[in-house]
Amino acid sequence: MRALVLGGTAFVGRAIVDALVRDGAEVTLFGRGRTGRELFPGLRRLVGDRDTGDYAALTAAARERPFDAVVDVSGYVLRQVRGAIAALDAAGGHAGRYVFVSTQAVYAGPGADEDTPRKAPRPDVEDTARLDDTTYGPAKAACEDEVTARFGERATLVRPGQVTGPYDTSDALVYWLRRAERGGPMAVPADPAQPVQLLDARDLGRLVAALVRTDRGGAFNAVGPAEPLTLAGLLAVCAEVAGTRARLVPVADRPGYFPLVREEWASQRRSAARARAVGLSATAFAETVAAVREWDAGRGRPAPEAGFGYTAEREAELLAAGDTRAR
Ligand SMILES: NC(=O)c1ccc[n+]([C@@H]2O[C@H](COP(=O)([O-])OP(=O)(O)OC[C@H]3O[C@@H](n4cnc5c(N)ncnc54)[C@H](OP(=O)(O)O)[C@@H]3O)[C@@H](O)[C@H]2O)c1
Repeated sequence: MRALVLGGTAFVGRAIVDALVRDGAEVTLFGRGRTGRELFPGLRRLVGDRDTGDYAALTAAARERPFDAVVDVSGYVLRQVRGAIAALDAAGGHAGRYVFVSTQAVYAGPGADEDTPRKAPRPDVEDTARLDDTTYGPAKAACEDEVTARFGERATLVRPGQVTGPYDTSDALVYWLRRAERGGPMAVPADPAQPVQLLDARDLGRLVAALVRTDRGGAFNAVGPAEPLTLAGLLAVCAEVAGTRARLVPVADRPGYFPLVREEWASQRRSAARARAVGLSATAFAETVAAVREWDAGRGRPAPEAGFGYTAEREAELLAAGDTRAR
């Protein structure tokens, strides 16, 4: 199995490359050569840039020998996906399969499975620097449509929800984990019963590797963990892993963003049944949290960004004010 991974050296892609290599695939990486340069010393690296449309190295490599599968982890806008496919075409043909790493953000509203209506695609978004909460999903939907139109049955769309695990620098789970380490009442601007979906990147990696290995097409939600989780349950697992006792106290404060808190819950209730049936593994959430804790401790524990969750002072203020709410 000869696989080309567009990206693969930061977080999600890194887990995918790990799984492909473990599966015995011969993996080639394509990127600008900026991120994770020390990773995967045994793998061939092609240097190019999807922003400037520089795919010369990709075309040259595909000309030498076609790829059985392309896994596109770094495509966000139609222009980038068209560029990669044109580069493969220039080498005299498509790859055997095109696996596009999309997102749950393509969905327009409630609905659990892959037939849930999507947002209107935005093929006009050209610049990744201009992506925001409103354009990210629609731009990805336009990429999905291109891959499906060009590859038909040889197209595979993987739609992850929020991903975590070692190397997750978003720090959403890290905020909760570090807060759980301090124990005691934790102020959270949300209902403790809010559902949470967080997928272990290593499960995602194994799913993509299985889809490549079995040459399977179609769309797949990739959400986790397998066991249902709420914010209160998440705090309990974090406290257990950290060896503390913590209690979630809902507060009426409404910050613009708070890690893992969602105003609408439908996005946290998607079904991974289809992916589970074809290889999505189910790492227990406590295992994911333990792995993130180990990684976080080993990276020198940089301070969380300002405005990311509550500072200890702000939290104490909210708790002292008895600023709680019932929902
Ligand atoms: N994290 C989540 O919770 C989540 C949820 C849903 C979907 N996703 C999807 O997962 C993917 C992102 O994962 P990741 O960033 O962790 O992936 P990754 O593949 O591990 O890292 C990004 C890769 O893209 C390469 N890259 C960046 N800009 C490039 C450019 N202009 N030209 C060529 N290569 C470029 C980087 O290498 P160089 O810097 O060396 O170029 C790096 O290898 C996206 O498709 C995203 O939509 C993530």
